[in-house]
Amino acid sequence: MLVLGIETSCDETAAALVEDHGGRWRLRSNIVASQADIHREWGGVVPELASRQHVRDICGVVERALADGGAGWPDVDALAVTQGPGLVGSLLVGVSFAKAAAWSLGKPLVAVNHLAGHIESIWLEHGLLALPAVVLVVSGGHTSLYLIKTEGEYQLLGRTRDDAAGEAYDKVAKLLSLGYPGGPIIDRLAAEGDETAIRWPGTRLTNPDRNAPERDGRFDFSFSGLKTAVLRHVRQRQSELGVEQLPHGEIADLAASFQRRVVETLIDRAFAAARWHGAKSIGIAGGVSANSRLRAEALAKAERSEIPVYIPRLSLSTDNAAMIAAAGMRQLAKKNYALPDLNAAASLPL
Ligand code: KG4
Ligand code: ZN
Repeated sequence: MLVLGIETSCDETAAALVEDHGGRWRLRSNIVASQADIHREWGGVVPELASRQHVRDICGVVERALADGGAGWPDVDALAVTQGPGLVGSLLVGVSFAKAAAWSLGKPLVAVNHLAGHIESIWLEHGLLALPAVVLVVSGGHTSLYLIKTEGEYQLLGRTRDDAAGEAYDKVAKLLSLGYPGGPIIDRLAAEGDETAIRWPGTRLTNPDRNAPERDGRFDFSFSGLKTAVLRHVRQRQSELGVEQLPHGEIADLAASFQRRVVETLIDRAFAAARWHGAKSIGIAGGVSANSRLRAEALAKAERSEIPVYIPRLSLSTDNAAMIAAAGMRQLAKKNYALPDLNAAASLPL
């Protein structure tokens, strides 16, 4: 079974081939055309520019994915496409392309939730994980914890009440005029700074989530307080020094202490959820799982706590279509085929 995955939910046009060998997934190709250079100038993703660029890139990206995987159109047994969540104009490009391709090939199409894609990137990379597993999905749009008792079934344990962790990285970088996307830039700068230089206020979520009172909120996240604390600190230092741009050393210290706080929060909550639910493994996926400190500390804590941690390689952590093809395998196994009227969905609960 050879599945062509297509992903266009944000600012990456991606296509990939994943093969199923009796339940084991093999990555045949993984092509990503990033639009970061286009959006950098604006300090963030401009939805209209993103959709237009997806239209330009989609055919070439799919052809490259087929060629790299040594396959032609007739070899494709099924297609999987990201239905949402994401930018609706961007999603529509992938959904329309996938529907047209599936219809003309006479092959089944399955719709994939982008977050399920991030979760399945862990299984694509590492094969079978001991269940139950707790998975942290941490990206530019989401910061959520899931419990997985059965492969392909995801139970939400907690999520951010406000900003996603990647969003906090991007906003802090913007505030410091460091560029876009902020995550990798702050990650690099943090290596030069003193992580103990600034003490940020802690975040404690004891109140229930008003939007989901039925859910125990103890594994939720919140990053907007930290973001505001960084904003206040920067404004104060700018006025004390009478400068727009803070000295490099000070920015590096800020990056290091901000990163320390974000990473500590993510790891503490993931391990707390794992212990609470008796998880036998922890997975971490999504763009922020590319973070050097998060990877190193999660793996170090795994050794100390004897709960193994699984993180995909960098090219499977940030947005890609291989993870969409992998999540598509789960839908195909259930014969959960998309109908011809499949539409993109800006918000799509998992
Ligand atoms: O999963 P992803 O590629 O797209 C979404 O689904 O959102 O994640 C993108 C996010 C951005 O916020 C970016 O700043 C962040 O992942 N990111 C990082 C790193 N690399 C990417 N954040 C922290 N450290 C990194 N090394
Ligand atoms: Zn993503």
